[in-house]
Amino acid sequence: MRKLLMAQDLGDLNKAVQEALEIKKNRYAYKQLGENKTLLCVFFNNSLRTRLSTQKAGMNLGMNTMVLDVNQGAWKLETERGVVMDGDKSEHLLEAIPVMASFCDVIGVRSFARFENKEFDYQETILNQFIKYSGKPVFSMESATAHPLQAFADLITIEEYKKKERPKVVMTWAPHPRALPQAVPNSFADFMNEANVDFVITHPKGYELSEKFVRNAKIEYDQDKALEGADFVYAKNWSAYQDPHYGQILSKDMSWTVSTEKMALTNNAYFMHCLPVRRNMIVTDDVIESPQSLVIPEAANREISAETVIKRILESL
Ligand code: CP
Repeated sequence: MRKLLMAQDLGDLNKAVQEALEIKKNRYAYKQLGENKTLLCVFFNNSLRTRLSTQKAGMNLGMNTMVLDVNQGAWKLETERGVVMDGDKSEHLLEAIPVMASFCDVIGVRSFARFENKEFDYQETILNQFIKYSGKPVFSMESATAHPLQAFADLITIEEYKKKERPKVVMTWAPHPRALPQAVPNSFADFMNEANVDFVITHPKGYELSEKFVRNAKIEYDQDKALEGADFVYAKNWSAYQDPHYGQILSKDMSWTVSTEKMALTNNAYFMHCLPVRRNMIVTDDVIESPQSLVIPEAANREISAETVIKRILESL
């Protein structure tokens, strides 16, 4: 395995989940695999879960792990080719990437959508520059369009908690005060489309996601209808994808907040969210604190999803 961006990079998803569950039984079983190998995690944006879980996964595999926060202590990086660098950016990514790569064997990259140019974001310009110029395996730790380590952890969690072979999984948009990227809902849709689940997406009109990720998923604009009989409710905010509103907030409708009343429409569903979450915007205190809330085991599974991916990368070196 040389890269991770989409579910298809994991091959047979069911096999990947089974491998992850085996790793979870003994997460130190592959400690020899990463001996004298170095993992570099490059962050262009903030993180709590990804930062800790990915480093922990590397350490479980016996790797040395290094973290670079590009915006805290490194030179400010130019990312566009052809720019006259007479501003505040001292170094170009095209030199920085091979230099970073010379000190490591595997690279994780976090680089969010900027919302300045949809094409720049949806071409995964930053991540692809790492793939092209590092010569090393590269995985997304949430890039412009996708967060595969999160969606893989979400799928592992659903596998652990499901009570029927093919559960109904509903991804619902919920309100948020700031414009957020589509990476998490994109990847959740990408993974659910490949999993054995009855997958439904619900959001206000105007919040349609990219067809590349939604594919044949059912779309239901009536949230109450979508939630009927759900076994898992996956809440997430995202900004508009469609032109001419790319990256904009179109609604802050609080009637979409996941509340006890909304959860009562479901089949006693589990509540999921990738975190960090804005309480009483996305979800009420009562729901997130309820016994049906999976937000903590879901976050804990980030260590397992990362370890499975890095293990596969190490096996391919
Ligand atoms: N869910 C997630 O990726 O969390 P962080 O942004 O804290 O890493």
